[in-house]
Parts: sequence; structure tokens; C-alpha cells
Amino acid sequence: MEGFKTIIEPFRIKMVEPIELTTRVERELFLEKAHYNTFLLHSSEVIIDFLTDSGTSAMSANQWAGMIVADESYAGARSWERMEAVVKHLTGCPFILPTHQGRAAERILYSHLGGKGKTFISNTHFDTTRANIEFSGAEAIDIPIKEATIPSLEHPFKGNLDVDKLDALIADKGAKNIGAVILTVTNNSGGGQPVSMQNAREVGEVCKKHGVLYILDCCRIAENSWFVKHREAGMENKTYEQIAQEMFGFADGAIMSAKKDGLVNMGGFMSLKDPELAAACTNLLIITEGFTTYGGLSGRDMEAMAIGLTEVFDPDYLTYRIRSTQYLGDKLTAMGVPLVRPIGGHAVYIDAKAFYPNIPINQYPGQALVAELYLTGGIRAVEIGSVMFGKYDALKNLIPAPMELVRLAIPRRVYTQSHIEYVLEVFEKLVGYRTRNKGYKITKEPEFLRHFTSHFAPIG
Ligand SMILES: Cc1ncc(COP(=O)(O)O)c(C=O)c1O
Repeated sequence: MEGFKTIIEPFRIKMVEPIELTTRVERELFLEKAHYNTFLLHSSEVIIDFLTDSGTSAMSANQWAGMIVADESYAGARSWERMEAVVKHLTGCPFILPTHQGRAAERILYSHLGGKGKTFISNTHFDTTRANIEFSGAEAIDIPIKEATIPSLEHPFKGNLDVDKLDALIADKGAKNIGAVILTVTNNSGGGQPVSMQNAREVGEVCKKHGVLYILDCCRIAENSWFVKHREAGMENKTYEQIAQEMFGFADGAIMSAKKDGLVNMGGFMSLKDPELAAACTNLLIITEGFTTYGGLSGRDMEAMAIGLTEVFDPDYLTYRIRSTQYLGDKLTAMGVPLVRPIGGHAVYIDAKAFYPNIPINQYPGQALVAELYLTGGIRAVEIGSVMFGKYDALKNLIPAPMELVRLAIPRRVYTQSHIEYVLEVFEKLVGYRTRNKGYKITKEPEFLRHFTSHFAPIG
């Protein structure tokens, strides 16, 4: 609201979900039982859940009302037609494939385009994106701009992809060996940082020059549009939706996990321009997700998504969303907590390596911070560093991730200002005793996506 510094939530609460308040002694027990992996905690053991902004949104009264009138017909349901129309209008793509979430669309598209010898290039592949590509036998290469790897550096569009490197890499690998170029907006694994319109356009030009497929990973396209409108010259008079539509216009298609800016708890889609590619993906969709007019979704999911994808572009909502995330980030910065700067759209990312400089990387400083946040305040966060992206060399030595981050992902329309004030108090305590110098070791891990199910133990 103009002229006021307090960011009020632009909604009233009509229904409440109780939070179970726990003691530190209880949390010590819960975390040990969960093998120090916060993914393995029961949600009832968590006070503030910042594990993810994915599928954790509070839906609006309109969305709930839409779910009641939704059409559950197997084929040609009204709710599908509504969702299809909204997604077509937004993406400008003629072919829309509904999926139960983002990774289902990734599995279909990237298993079709991938395979041994193929390369995918992105600003940063999200973990499921990378896993789906690598599972097909292809390789996934990240080429964010160089500013993106310096957490403290201020840059308006740190999510941008390095266009010169892209051009050289495609020439080097050979265009026919490129599965796709994937631009993730905002760049989740790169700190939730936005991508500029100029960058999205230039990536498109390079892809066109080489005849390479260009896909937007657009799960946070509305949040990205907020940054474009407020940071990029020439964009200030466009609506958030127009900005999103313009960005979709450069690409050959998109994949969306609607669990983010779709404001739903489950849902996703793939949108494509090429009829042959769409036909091939539709075959896979029917085999593994469901018929073309529902994918893996019920009618009520599609109805809620159609409404959510419209609500998310509301200027009051988007401004509250971005400014309240920035509020948390700016207060933490003032407290001396090292963060990825500037603050991104859906989350605050802490530079755990700088927060715990005494903990060696192979003892996972990010995991140590995640554990401390839980033990001190019941806050659940997620490590985005060498637990999530680390690999091993032939001698089983850790090849670390480029950054050791901890993400506080803020669910949409869920927490109020006083929840955020509590989180800040918890951090004040953590800052007071941050001299720890021992981290965690992994005691059990799966082959793929190890952060979800690995077991840890404190060292010493
Ligand atoms: C950038 C990005 N792409 C893809 C996905 C995968 O979506 P889903 O969790 O719906 O499978 C996510 C989920 O967090 C994401 O952030």
C-alpha cells in the first residue's frame, strides 16, 4: 500500500490450520529419529515449514469454490477446457499436456529428447530436471552468468544464462546433439534469482541460429515478471501477465510445476508449439500419466489451477509476495547473516559456507545449519549445496557443489508477519553461537536425489 511501510497480507484468513508447538528437547529426539534429515521429519514436528514453496500454497476461496463445481469427466471435462484455455492464453502454445506435477512433464519431454550422447544446457537445471536428463543417459550442463556464483554480489538479473557460452557450447557439441536449452525462471537452484527479458530473448536468438529447442522451466514465471517490470528498462508499463506472455513468446515450449505460481497443491503441464513433438509427448503422456484431457490430474485440480494461474498475476498479491520475502532477507542481512544477494522471489538463501566458515565442505555446513534451525526454533529448511548437488570422484572424494546454500522457501499466502518475526528471533540466537566447527557425515545415501532420503550423523 502506497505511503505505508508495513506490508499487509492482501487477504483475510477464513480457515486455520493449527501448528503444534514443540520444545527443544522434543525436537532433539525428532531429529535423531529422522537421521538428521529434515525431509524425514513428520510435518507435525515442524513449527515453521520453509522446506519448500512447492505445493504448499494456501488456496483462495475462489479456488475452493471452483473445486466444488469442477467436472470430473474422463474425457473433455469442462475443467480441462478452462485450464487449457488459461494455459494457451498465457504461453501462446497450441498444444497443452496436463501432468500431475513438473517432473512428470520433465520425464516425458526429456526422456523423449534425451539419451546417450545428448546434452542439455540451462542457467541451472533444477534437481529433478537434472535427474530426469541424466537418467535418460544424457548430460546436463549449467551455464549461469559468472555473477551468479558470487553470493554477496548485487546484480538485478543473477538468474541470467551466459549467452556467449551457450553459443560456443552448442557449436562445440554440435546442434544435433543438443536435447534442449532450458531457461529456468526464476532460477530456483541458483538462488531464486530472476531472468531478464533481454536474456530470455537473446537465448532464443542463439537457439534459433543453431536450430536448437528452447524450453522455459516456468514454475515461477509470475514472480519473475515482477522483477522484470520493476528492474528492466522499458518494461514498467506492461502488466505482469503481458511480461510473462512476451517471455513465453521467445521459447518453443514450457514446462510448469503449477505447485508454485499455479497456486495449487498439485499440478503441472507441458506446453509446446511443434505438432510432431507434441504428438510424441502425448503418446508418452497417455502411457504414463493419463488421457490427454486430464494427464495425472482430477477435474478439481485443473479447475484450481486455471483460477490460480489467473490470481497469481494480481499486482497486490505479487507485490506483497516479493516484498515480504525481501523483508525477511533484509532483516537477516542487517543481523549479519550472509545471504545470496539480492533477495530472490520465493525464498531467502543463506550462504552456509560463510555462516559456518569453520566447518569443512565435506562436513556439509549447509546441513549443519538446517539442523540448527530445526533444533533451535522448529524451522524446517533445505540444504542446496553439496548434499543436494555434490558428486564423488573415482576415489570417493567429494566434488563439492559451486555453493553451499540453505534455502528458506516461503509458502504462498500461508505465513503472517508474526511468523516471520519469530523466524528472525530464531536467527538472532543462531548468530549468537555460530562458532561451531563440526558438521555432519552421510551414513546412508541412494544413487539419485540423495538429499531426499540420505541419513546423516553429527561429527564429534
Ligand atoms: C525450477 C523447478 N523445476 C522443476 C521442478 C519440479 O517440479 P515438481 O516438484 O512439481 O515435480 C521444481 C520443483 O521444485 C522447480 O523448482
